[in-house]
Amino acid sequence: MNATVQPGPLRHFLQFRDLSKDEINYVFARARLIKENFKRYKPHHTLHDRTLAMVFEKASTRTRVSFEAGMYQLGGSVINLTATDSQLGRSEPIEDTARVVSRMVDLVMIRTFEQTRIERFASHSRVPVINGLTNEYHPCQILADIFTYIEHRGSIEGKTVAWVGDGNNMAYTWLQAAELLGFKLHVSAPQGYTLEPEITGEPDSSVFQEFSDPMLACKGADLVTTDVWTSMGFEDENEERREAFADWCVDAEMMAEANPDALFMHCLPAHRGEEVSGDVIDGPQSVVWDEAENRMHVQKALMEFLLLGQLADPQQT
Ligand code: CP
Ligand code: NVA
Repeated sequence: MNATVQPGPLRHFLQFRDLSKDEINYVFARARLIKENFKRYKPHHTLHDRTLAMVFEKASTRTRVSFEAGMYQLGGSVINLTATDSQLGRSEPIEDTARVVSRMVDLVMIRTFEQTRIERFASHSRVPVINGLTNEYHPCQILADIFTYIEHRGSIEGKTVAWVGDGNNMAYTWLQAAELLGFKLHVSAPQGYTLEPEITGEPDSSVFQEFSDPMLACKGADLVTTDVWTSMGFEDENEERREAFADWCVDAEMMAEANPDALFMHCLPAHRGEEVSGDVIDGPQSVVWDEAENRMHVQKALMEFLLLGQLADPQQT
């Protein structure tokens, strides 16, 4: 099948809520099968002959490796573009890049700055576009995180997730997931770094609660999660952020406020001694390595879904 032929309406994954709850559950069911096949060295070539283009305008380790390895494992191939080695770095409009690239490949993953940039790309693309992180959202990471939670503890519905730290792309995506999948989100961020209403809209107060004290946010939580104090693109603010976030380090004392069987997650890369202490991230409640691995399994399921839709036989390999 070539790049211009789609089996159904064109779908993108630019934010978490671009998929319905049922579709997310379908992606998780496929991810379980895909992971099982991977562990048993059983070929799973549902995207044979398909090509994924990846566009990185920011650095990456996990997103690059998980998409690239994942697409090869599905029988497809991958092209990697960066701002510096493509014409994007020489001011070619993103719309023209989208028009051209999407005539030659079947699927595009982009990591970039403003959400509007990926939206502009998607609106000129003939093929599905996946958000591999923008300033506002990181939906593939939250897919992996919730899949990981379910693997360890079962359904996340009705549970409480505590977000400690910057009101960033991860936090905004957790909020969308909480609203869609029915769990509670506690957020504690220093003043000046809380979630902005222009992005969140008016969140449901039965889902979303803000806390000025991170210890209170963690009280009774089933999952405690955090991220770097300074996200990519905000490096100029590094010093002021270090000061503002000094009390927002997830350490053993903070974890002790959560439920005894609470998990700890971090999308990585992590800075031990800043947003998380070494004993927490390397301790028994931490599932960060499963989280990282699961990026690959859920993204394989996501790419399949965007290109093939829901398969009549969900056990098909
Ligand atoms: N978590 C995550 O997206 O990692 P990378 O920046 O290494 O891709
Ligand atoms: N919030 C971080 C996530 C990195 C995976 C960033 O945007 O840099």
